[in-house]
Amino acid sequence: MFPEGFLWGGALAANQTEGAWNVDGRGPSVADVTAYKPKVDVTDYEALHQITTSDIEAALSDQGVDTFPKRRGIDFYHRYTDDLALFAELGFTTLRVSISWTRLFPTGEEDVPLEAGIAFYESLFTEMRRHHIEPIVTLHHYEMPVALSLKYNGWADRRVVDHFVRYARVCFERFGHLVKLWLTFNEIDGIIRHPFSSGGVIPDRGDVVQNSYSALHHQFVASAIATRLCHELVEEGRMGCMLTKLTTYPLTCRPEDVAATQQKTLLNLFPADVQVFGEYPPLILRRLERDDITVPFEPGDAAILKEHTVDFVSFSYYMTTTESVDPDAERAPGNTIVGVKNPYLPSSEWGWQVDPVGLRISLIDLYDRYRKPLFCVENGIGSIDVVGDDGIVHDDYRIDYFRAHFEEMSKAIDAGVDLMGYTSWAPIDIVSLSTSQMSKRYGFIYVDQDDHGNGTLERRPKDSFAWYKKVIASNGSDL
Ligand code: BG6
Repeated sequence: MFPEGFLWGGALAANQTEGAWNVDGRGPSVADVTAYKPKVDVTDYEALHQITTSDIEAALSDQGVDTFPKRRGIDFYHRYTDDLALFAELGFTTLRVSISWTRLFPTGEEDVPLEAGIAFYESLFTEMRRHHIEPIVTLHHYEMPVALSLKYNGWADRRVVDHFVRYARVCFERFGHLVKLWLTFNEIDGIIRHPFSSGGVIPDRGDVVQNSYSALHHQFVASAIATRLCHELVEEGRMGCMLTKLTTYPLTCRPEDVAATQQKTLLNLFPADVQVFGEYPPLILRRLERDDITVPFEPGDAAILKEHTVDFVSFSYYMTTTESVDPDAERAPGNTIVGVKNPYLPSSEWGWQVDPVGLRISLIDLYDRYRKPLFCVENGIGSIDVVGDDGIVHDDYRIDYFRAHFEEMSKAIDAGVDLMGYTSWAPIDIVSLSTSQMSKRYGFIYVDQDDHGNGTLERRPKDSFAWYKKVIASNGSDL
């Protein structure tokens, strides 16, 4: 049973949605130089995330949108009022969006923000409030200024902390009367796996593993300072961390498989441990030391982390994988990872293994570990949708996916988990993060646009739209 006041909605990110990448003074972000990669083998993780300094420079000299679909998104920048009206029709009580840092600070180093950017977000949040939709806002969702990436190698350099804190302060000061629920870094653990999109760290500049862990430490410090500012500047403001919940099972009960799984789990959870408990877990510090990785602690960091911990724990959940020490075990891709295939689970068209029970397991694990309110801020299935002769997408597979996940969420709540809310990824079709495909569709609302930008951009409800509306209206009792 879902509790009264449970928040129901959807989640979006500016870089995959807004478009208008060079409008009103906005500067380019790391997402705007990330190319369309439809043909890449999704189990080839390296190929998916490889980018060099010269790729970035070449991308910046190309002002087009063809190779870089995130530059066009779904034109949410100009169409948000209509899109919010559709979300209101769905009955949303919350919507997660992110702020594009470069719409406020084009290079990240300006002293004052662009008023056009401020006006856009003020209007967006005001319109949400008019529809009684509670905004939940991510400050950093894979879209840092590319200028900071090129100049400092992104978050690998400590000076980026100050630039982020200046941006975060402006967000709290200018939007704090409209936004009470905040997240600092989307999937903060992701920087270890995809350092460029997550933190502007360019793989061809030095030791990428060391640089990624340095960047992660700087993000922890920045997140803690932003949490302090949120508490100081936003009346009733609450800050959450955001983790990619990568639940991993041992492929077999062979103890070596279990031990390897345990290591994966410790590594996945440690960024949330830092943000909830205010310190690095000793086992992780030992492991980093063994691997010759230095955490660039400066005087005062330990106290900052300890004093400014988060109020709630949010996470994304799409799939699970397994772990095995057998080098021949069949591989399976997932959200920003590649693991080992689970013979008991079906897969999406992109090979992600669909596991509703894994959501219940994840919720119970997270609540037992952190004892903080949880918020599932991303969950959904990317599919190739076909528009029927009647002009409608009949997406029973999507309804089946969500229904099964909601049943498991409900069981976790019955088991005692404190879950504040749920936002599906993404309520409307948007450009995918990993491959920049428009054809990887997640929405309840179809957007008439193909991978190459052809289409009218018209929005049309799919079958799942009416179904999700009914779920929300019944507070999850009518699935
Ligand atoms: C999450 C990201 O990791 O996965 C989103 O926070 C992303 O930005 C989502 O869109 C789904 O991944 P993809 O590659 O299918 O868009």
